[in-house]
Amino acid sequence: MRKKIVAGNWKMNLNLQEGIALAKELNEALTADKPNCDVVICTPFIHLASVVPAVDASIIGVGAENCADKVSGAYTGEVSAAMVASTGAKYVILGHSERRAYYGETEAILKEKVQLALANGLTPIFCIGEVLEERQQGVQNEVVYKQLAGSLYDLSAEDFSKIILAYEPVWAIGTGLTATPEQAQEIHAYIRSTIAEKYGNEVAENTSILYGGSCKASNAKELFANADVDGGLIGGASLKAADFKGIIDAWKE
Ligand code: PGA
Repeated sequence: MRKKIVAGNWKMNLNLQEGIALAKELNEALTADKPNCDVVICTPFIHLASVVPAVDASIIGVGAENCADKVSGAYTGEVSAAMVASTGAKYVILGHSERRAYYGETEAILKEKVQLALANGLTPIFCIGEVLEERQQGVQNEVVYKQLAGSLYDLSAEDFSKIILAYEPVWAIGTGLTATPEQAQEIHAYIRSTIAEKYGNEVAENTSILYGGSCKASNAKELFANADVDGGLIGGASLKAADFKGIIDAWKE
């Protein structure tokens, strides 16, 4: 059975001390009241080496929000997948719409990043999703297919099986607009069907597909209730332990 996952994406928020404090607070809350899903927090690079030892690895996994598309060398300011892994982090968000839109990350660049992440034992949380105009034109399926095929569909079935997907409609990220549960289910089912076509039913059934975009405690339950929604990638609501825990608790009865 595929995993249920709630992953936080802190983005460029919280200084080091604030980040450690949030990680500890969440760790305490989840130690007292164990989650029944996998929980991941993805933090700025600078926080990783301090956040990893601040949490119980059996309850909270830690990840980066990006990594370089090169192995090592003269790439000033970049952070490699190997460096991320050396902090004890286990995950890395790749292809977030903000990276695609503001930092020019193409499908080809993301393909390199995915391969380097996998080569270093990191689990990519790979983001896909359409912008508002594409949704209005009704071409969201074509958009996500192109993103999947362009960066992931050259992977072996074994490597593809290591990936977590996050469908994030760009028009819902940080806007307070959320896809309806029906919209989420419809496109998640489509995504799973393309994986089945490419890698077969077993791989498709075992792939966790998270929803992201203004997911919060008040709407998580109805989103997660859908057959093909396996959890959430959470931005704003991952910045407060109580808010984030409220989403994690959506997996409980
Ligand atoms: P949001 O962000 O929850 O603040 O909408 C989600 C994301 O960008 O991963």
